[in-house]
Amino acid sequence: MRLGSAKPLIRKYNVPGPRYTSFPTVPYWKNDPLAPEDWMKTFKIDHNDSKSQEVSIYIHLPFCESLCTFCGCHKRITKNHAVETPYIDALLKEWSMYKARLPFIPNISEIHLGGGTPTFFNPQELERLIKGILENQPEYQAPQMGIEAHPNNTTDEHLTTLYRIGFRRLSLGIQDYSPIVQKAIHRIQSFEQVKQVHEKAQKMGYTSISHDLVYGLPKQTLEDITDTIEKTIRLMPDRIALYSYAHVPWIKGVGQRGFDENDLPKDEFKRALYETARERLFAAGYKEIGMDHFALEHDELYKALSTKTLHRNFMGYTTRTSKTMIGLGMSAISDSWYGFAQNDKSVEGYLQKINEGILPIFRGHLLSEKDLIIRQHILDIMCHFETVCSDELLASVKGRLSELIQDEIVKIEGNKVSICPDGVPFVRNCCMAFDEYLFNDKGTVPMFSKTI
Ligand SMILES: C[S@@+](CC[C@H](N)C(=O)[O-])C[C@H]1O[C@@H](n2cnc3c(N)ncnc32)[C@H](O)[C@@H]1O
Ligand code: SF4
Repeated sequence: MRLGSAKPLIRKYNVPGPRYTSFPTVPYWKNDPLAPEDWMKTFKIDHNDSKSQEVSIYIHLPFCESLCTFCGCHKRITKNHAVETPYIDALLKEWSMYKARLPFIPNISEIHLGGGTPTFFNPQELERLIKGILENQPEYQAPQMGIEAHPNNTTDEHLTTLYRIGFRRLSLGIQDYSPIVQKAIHRIQSFEQVKQVHEKAQKMGYTSISHDLVYGLPKQTLEDITDTIEKTIRLMPDRIALYSYAHVPWIKGVGQRGFDENDLPKDEFKRALYETARERLFAAGYKEIGMDHFALEHDELYKALSTKTLHRNFMGYTTRTSKTMIGLGMSAISDSWYGFAQNDKSVEGYLQKINEGILPIFRGHLLSEKDLIIRQHILDIMCHFETVCSDELLASVKGRLSELIQDEIVKIEGNKVSICPDGVPFVRNCCMAFDEYLFNDKGTVPMFSKTI
């Protein structure tokens, strides 16, 4: 992208907008509260789809020892490790509640441990969790397993235990290597520390190692991002997530108040941080996946892009293994394809419901026929930058796309709507034209971070 020509467009289109990790997006979910019986009715067996009994499991492990002040995740800061055992007990109980209520015997195709900081938990507790979840799974089914690890507390024992029980994917939280940025976000970690964990995991046989980086962080400069990318390339992770810093202090409270608004890179400068990183990653052989991920050609994520099986869900871009994702743990979101549900957002509320034998969901959304259609279009645009619409849908979105068409961000050929090569930074703005919930909402409360 030629940044010079895009400058006025960045100002024009950098507005609050969803990241479309779901459609409808969470603020427009209609079923609040959602009764567990209604939620369970959304799990269906499709007799034409041999994979309809496959489920991916996302497990939210919320604890972190120290607060990073940029963090937008659902987490609980504590140094008290006595919280581990009751929390793992609750997760196992929650999974057994699902098994008892699902209308089919689930075949687990994928397990992802996210957080918070999964490596806050000791390796024995993580092993107990995985063994408990996989109890009674058919032997032939070996799920793909991955974990989000904090390099500061990932021990050799974590790596060996997780490898032994089948983990092959590891994603390391890096963000930025600049000491000034690290101080601003209250997250000190050295390149040496990351290198050690990365190289040990690689040697052990982990096949997909990913690094999480963030652009737009407080005090981040072009030199900082260049240096961070240079260091990252020295290790050549299989995947890189280069997230746009999401500034949503109205939701996360104190977590994001450790710096001044003036310290944040804005508009075209923020985009220049991304472009600088992107050019360097291309030169090193990475391919861009969707709007904020990169992968080497051998990685499953790139293969999924090439075979059009790339998917996007609450974890970001993924290689789709099943249509159903069950989220376990506080704040976790589940997606049965026909509905979404979110668990209680406090550790105490979550544990209490589990101990009472109640599925801990508190809100959700049952998708209408129309939602299902729009959801597929938004997925196609977010993953493959194009979608083919019916005449009726095209007629309704055309007007809303007209400015994007005039600005050469989007083009329409026949019934195909696609993003122009220079329009990629504005892919969320294109999806917004398909999102009637957003379009009809005249509210003024900020709900989303900005699109750039
Ligand atoms: C759960 S954390 C990763 C695991 C571990 N807690 C750690 O920090 O290393 C998931 C990732 O989300 C990203 N993230 C968190 N807050 C963000 C924000 N406000 N904007 C953009 N990305 C964010 C970071 O890249 C972070 O590594
Ligand atoms: S970035 Fe990771 S370690 Fe830091 S507060 Fe967020 S979840 Fe915890």
